[in-house]
Amino acid sequence: MERQIIIMETEKYVQKQLEGEGTGHDWWHIHRVTELTKKIAEKENADYFICLMAALTHDLIDEKVTNKTKRAMNQLMKWFDQMEIPSKEQKRIIEIITTISFKGGNKPTPSTLEAKVVQDADRLDAIGAIGIARCFTYAGSAGNIIHDPEVKPREEITEEDYRKKDGTAIQHFYEKLLKLKDLMNTETGLKIAEERHRFMEIYLDQFYMEWNGEK
Ligand code: ADP
Ligand code: NI
Repeated sequence: MERQIIIMETEKYVQKQLEGEGTGHDWWHIHRVTELTKKIAEKENADYFICLMAALTHDLIDEKVTNKTKRAMNQLMKWFDQMEIPSKEQKRIIEIITTISFKGGNKPTPSTLEAKVVQDADRLDAIGAIGIARCFTYAGSAGNIIHDPEVKPREEITEEDYRKKDGTAIQHFYEKLLKLKDLMNTETGLKIAEERHRFMEIYLDQFYMEWNGEK
């Protein structure tokens, strides 16, 4: 099957799979990550097809999106078969999407250029103006409040803290969002991250000024 057609068919497939998705991994997240992936892959001379396929499917097997990751994985491989993607390439795509998730934080940096590209694109969608929007949306759906001045920003926070309602949206900036810039794998990703990072810093300055009645 022609690659362009595989990509288009997979777009439709993913869109359908993510219908009703409400954890911040909806189709538009995938769309944004795919667009960023195109941009970074081109500049970094990474394998365009592999990167794009990984970007499109990266959240389908995520435990936050499905509670049956094994089944989701089998289903995805069936889809790849249907698209007549050679098994060697299937392996490369699967390898990327199983290694890029930030959760856990201590996973080793991905070793292939393609994984680095897609991981950067995924992380970029968690920062900047869009990252801020996703953060507040997530916090709201988890029942967390915007900010509590008594909750001192901590870099490490456990699920238990959140259960005790000790996690706020602003807290999440320190726990994750402000760390992502320094975790960029590619030069192209870093350039975009720097601008988005700066925007978050400006945002936080303004936020605290308003909070303290200074603006
Ligand atoms: P990923 O997109 O890497 O799979 P997550 O599922 O952890 O990441 O997060 C989805 C979105 O929700 C991201 O934009 C992330 O920053 C945000 N998010 C995750 N956990 C929290 C939290 N505790 N508070 C606010 N936002 C969060
Ligand atoms: Ni993602």
